[in-house]
Order: sequence, then structure tokens, then C-alpha cells
Amino acid sequence: MKKNIKMKKAFYLFLTLLACTTIFKASADEGMWIPLLLGENNEAEMQAMGFNLTAEDIYSINHGSLKDAVVIFGGGCTGEIVSDQGLMLTNHHCGYGSIQRHSSLEHNYLTDGFWANNQQEELSCPGLTCTMLVRMEDVTEKVLEGVEDNMTESEREEVISNNISIIKEEAVEDTHYSALVKSFYYGNKFYLMVNEIFTDVRLVGAPPSNIGKFGGDTDNWMWPRHTGDFSVFRIYVDQDNNPAEYSEDNVPYTPKSFMEISLKGVEKDDFTFVFGYPGRTQEYVSSYAVETITQIENPIRIKIRDKALNIIGNAMNQDELTRLQYSSKYAGIANGWKKWIGENKGIKRLNAIEVKKEYEAEFEKWANSHPETEAMYGGIINRFEEIYSELKTSRRNQTYLFEAGFRPDILRFASSFRNLVEISEVKETDIAEIDEEVQSRINATENHFKNYNADIDTEVFAALFKIYITDLKAADYPAILNDINTKYNGDTEAYANELFRKSIFSSKKKTIDFLKKYKQSKYKKIIKDPAYNLISAIRNHYFQQVLPKVEKYDIELDSLMRLYMRAQMEMDPDGRFYPEANFTLRVGYGKIDDYLPRDAVHYGYFTTLEGIMEKEDPAIFDYVVEDKLKELYSTKDYGRYADKDGSMHVCFTASNHTTGGNSGSPVLNADGQLIGINFDRNWEGTMSDLMYDPDMCRNISIDIRYCLFIIDKFAGATHLIDEMKIIE
Ligand code: ARG
Ligand code: ASP
Repeated sequence: MKKNIKMKKAFYLFLTLLACTTIFKASADEGMWIPLLLGENNEAEMQAMGFNLTAEDIYSINHGSLKDAVVIFGGGCTGEIVSDQGLMLTNHHCGYGSIQRHSSLEHNYLTDGFWANNQQEELSCPGLTCTMLVRMEDVTEKVLEGVEDNMTESEREEVISNNISIIKEEAVEDTHYSALVKSFYYGNKFYLMVNEIFTDVRLVGAPPSNIGKFGGDTDNWMWPRHTGDFSVFRIYVDQDNNPAEYSEDNVPYTPKSFMEISLKGVEKDDFTFVFGYPGRTQEYVSSYAVETITQIENPIRIKIRDKALNIIGNAMNQDELTRLQYSSKYAGIANGWKKWIGENKGIKRLNAIEVKKEYEAEFEKWANSHPETEAMYGGIINRFEEIYSELKTSRRNQTYLFEAGFRPDILRFASSFRNLVEISEVKETDIAEIDEEVQSRINATENHFKNYNADIDTEVFAALFKIYITDLKAADYPAILNDINTKYNGDTEAYANELFRKSIFSSKKKTIDFLKKYKQSKYKKIIKDPAYNLISAIRNHYFQQVLPKVEKYDIELDSLMRLYMRAQMEMDPDGRFYPEANFTLRVGYGKIDDYLPRDAVHYGYFTTLEGIMEKEDPAIFDYVVEDKLKELYSTKDYGRYADKDGSMHVCFTASNHTTGGNSGSPVLNADGQLIGINFDRNWEGTMSDLMYDPDMCRNISIDIRYCLFIIDKFAGATHLIDEMKIIE
């Protein structure tokens, strides 16, 4: 009998351990791996799963490899080079800002699409860059040289940052490259990235939003999906094939390597991998961190964004110009909002906090079982618990401040005048410097008001500050907001109206008039401006009241996480740990796969043009289908881009582990050929940034054949197709 209980206990322990391993030790699909280490960590498994190439084909510094065809596109996406003339693919939502900047009501490339007929017509995009990894190197030893166990965090920081400066300097000596050293495994490892940054990137083509953003924010984060989320750019360089600022003399870039495109299509269980730049994941954090994110931060963000989206969405539905002006802002706010809703559901469904607590109990047992590990790791979990509990109020205040206090456009815009104030305050400042800043403010003002509507902003302002001062105690929000209660009887609308009426920053004319007549002493007028004054007070509150309270814990959390990460790896010496995402180049691999989102529902792994026709609704903005596309559909004019089943495939799902930043990433087959462009994840899997579930987490890609079909048959840009290397 006794033995039986023991066995049962052992069995349950085994089950818990099993559950834990699925989180902390990557299942075959989970993981974002370092390209440099694929050979030792992943190659064998990848090949066993069907990969026909070697790690060297993906990452090599001795000869051209796939890595030479992958770039960071702009500040937060991935792109891939698909021709020997620097032609590049990324997502429509990644190119969106560049497409929007070239758009107006007269020639609206967002609505109508844009296709350059030749290279002369390709549009330069000032400020847009592409960053390519030249090489990476493990520099942990050099970074940690001189670091002692008994150092304080700030002493350690200082040594590390000095070492990093030297490493970076040496790495790029006598080259035009730039260098970056990033922390991996929460400060346990460091890698040097040597990058080449291209500064002349031009817009080549984009489908109309009815294709590139089909389904809009309604379908965002959802499967089944039918979005043709791609756009086309080209990298230009000087005559020596080196990065250069825009010039008419620049020529298309000749890459070391570019991606071949496969028209074979995908089948369930096919091996596939994604090669790109995942931004941030937190799989190894404590249950208390997950609790804070999902129970404190996410609900506040969701509630406040709900409100903002309602107001902006209504306005967009009433007016075409407003839709054009606000669709990008709306998409940005909605994207996080919807992800966090999905994330919270997923964490709940996985019972993630409990699962993590069980793991933490196991961890403590392990840590306390040897004097050495006990001395080193014994108190970690308790300390996490204490810190997160002490942090609660401050985190709450911080989240409200970020989401409500910093949201209204007028405040962000006013805040961008800070530099002008600061240089004007100093008597000795050179007049030329001030003139230059004034000119740059004039340009920024022109840009800002292109996509701005003061009525909408007033409404958002009033609604958000209402939530801000209602949900928080007066001591927890900036004192200046007490005015709303004392002078406006709590009426945030009246307060907002007055502020917008008095501020120059609510109107383009007022701002430009002011800037045109600017003199150094006029900075006083900015300081007195109610919008500037308010945002300054909010900033001060943040830096003086909120930040110090979270910062001291954040520093301790960093060092605790460093220990905890090391300990988790030590506890499981055979485990294969991938580093948390940190916007460095990674490989995620898995299979083309379907999934079961909920009871009795089975989602297939691909969608077709058929589904676009099913979703069509001319009355709903997100579901309007272009006439030309309908025509191609009715004549079944798919050419060589049709699947062997005769239909036009649009998107597909796979079990590659991805996150924000992976948008635009190449999705490749077993032969390293391009089969799709990654652009999203499924809603049921959005908790993967905190806990990955192989049964539920899928990345969503546009089928490359749909891309080519749109470029070729829909847009008639056959010259681009001719540039690519297409494998039938
Ligand atoms: N959810 C995707 C990602 O996180 C796509 C976002 C852009 N698309 C949109 N409809 N807002 O970035
Ligand atoms: N849509 C995301 C991006 O823009 C990708 C993701 O979160 O899965 O990077």
C-alpha cells in the first residue's frame, strides 16, 4: 500500500517534470536558434526532420550563405533578397510607412498599390535602412574579463560596458561596418554582431491594401487568413557595391547570395524553417513575472486601448480621409491590444502560472539539495515573489502612464519640441544651431499634421485621462492632473477642450506661424503652452516618482534572472536551451502543420482564393475584393502559380517559433528555397512569447506563389518576376 502511494507520487512527479520539460526544454518546434551554433545544436535534428542542406548553407563566413540574403528591414522587421540586383521582399505592414509617405489622396499607393515600371521609377525612402549581418562571434570571455563575483551590479555594468566598447571598436576597425554586442541568456553569454547598414532602399512595388491588408485588423492575429501581406523594395549602393546615402548615381546592390523561389508548394508535415529577427520573448521568467504581465499590465493596456480604438475606429468609418490618416496609428494600437487579449487567454488555457509554480517548486528542491547550489540559488524564487509583490503598485502606475499619459498625439508632438527649448534656454547657443532645429521642427510639423485630426485627438485625450484619474489614486498620477478635479469639476472633456484651444500644438497653422517667427527668447512661449506643460509634468512625474521605484527592482531582477537562467541550465545539463529573443538573427524550424483551436474545430493548414471570395463583402472595408482579382479568379488564370490541386493557395501555417520582428522573414523549405513570407501568428498561439505550446502555436505565412501571382498576373510587373530565380 505504502509502496503504491510512493509510486503514485513518483509518477506524478514524473508527469510534472514532463510538463516542465515541454516548457523549458525546447520541443522539436520550439526555439529560436543562433545561426552560428546550428552545426553543433540543431543540424542533426533538422536533417532528421527532412532538411536537405547543412548548417553551413545557412550561416557561413567563408562563402555566400542564406544569411547574406536576410536583412533587418527598417527598425523592426525582416526582409529577404530575391535577385542578384538587390530586389527584396518584406511584408506590406512592414513597408506600410514607406508606402504611406509616398501617398496622397491624388495618388494613393496604399489604396491603389504601386508598381515601378523600371528601376528609374523606384521611389527613394529617406531614413529607411536595411541591416545585414556580416558575422557574429561569441565574445563572452572578453566581455566578462575583469568581472568578479562580489561586484555590485553597477560595478559589473561598468566593466562590461568598457569591454564592449573595446570589442566593438576592434571589430570594425578600417571598415565601413558597424558593431553591436548583445547579451544572451540574460547576461550569461555575449555575442558580437558585425553589420553592414544600407542607407539607400527604394520602394519597388506594393499591392493595393485590399490585397496587402485584406482582412485588416479584423483578421489580424487570426487564422484562417487571406492577407497578401507583402511589398517589394530594392537596395541601392555606390559604384563599389558599398552602402551609400541616396544618390542618382547609385546602382542596385549585388548580394553575396540571394534566395531561390520554389513553386512546388507545401504539404502537411513538410520540413520548414524561418530565418529572421525575432524581437523579444520571455520563456524563462518566473511565474511572478508572468502573473504581473498577464494580470496587471495586460488588462490595463487592453482597457485603455479599447477606448482609444473605439474612438478612432468610429471616426475612420465615417470619413475616407480620416481612414487614410489614421489607419497606421489604428493598426499599431490594435496590434498590441489584440495580441495581449490572445496572450492572456492562452496563458489561462495552459494554466501557465500554475505550471511555472510547479516547476519552481522542483527548482527549489533541486537548488536546496546541495550546499553549493543552495548557497548560490537557494533564495531566488522567494526573492522573485517579494520583488514582484513590492513592484505591483509601481508597475500599475507605470502602465497607466505609458498607455494613457503618453498616448494623445498632441502630447507626443509637444514633447518633440523639448530640444528646441533646451538649446534656446542656453544663451550661448549658436543661432545657426537654433535655425537648424527650427527648420527640422517645421518639417516635422508638416509631417505630423498630414495624419492628424484635432477633434479625434481631443476625444481620445479626454477619454484616456478620464480613465487615468479615475482608476488611480491622486497620489499615483501627476499632481498637475488635479486641475481636472479642482478647476473643471472632474470633467476631462472640458479640460481637454480648453487645452486644445489654448495650445499651439493642436493646429498646423498656429505651430508653423510660431516657428516661422521663432526667436531664441520665444522658448518661453513653448514652456507655457498647456500641452507642453502637461507632457513635461507627466515626464517629470515619470522620472521622479515612477521610474525610481521600478528601476531599483528592475536592476535586481536583471541580476536575479541572470542567476536563474544559469541555474535552470545547470539543473538540466542535457537540456537544449535556446536564448530568449533579442532581435538578433535566428533560425526557427518546424513543420507545415494544421491545428485544433478548440473543441470539435479543425483548422486546415492552407487557405485559397476561394476563401477570399467567401469573405468578400463590398460593404465592409476590410473585405473588399479588387475587381481584377475577381476576374483572375473567375477565369482561373493562375498560370504556373496554381497549386497542383488547381487552386490558388494564399497563406499557410507551420510550427516555426516566431515573434514580433519575424514579420517579413523568409520561410524556406528543406532545400533552402523560399516558399513563403512570415507575417503573423495565430491568436490561440500568441502566448508563445511567454510559453510555447507545440499543439497550438503556429506562424502564418503568405504563400510565395500568391505573391508572385499578384506581381505577375495582377500587377503585370513581369520584369520583376524575370529577375528572380524560380524553381518550378
Ligand atoms: N499581427 C502582426 C504582427 O504583429 C501583423 C500586424 C500588422 N497587420 C495589421 N492588420 N495590423 O505584427
Ligand atoms: N506580426 C509580427 C511582426 O510584425 C510577427 C509576429 O508577432 O508573429 O513581426
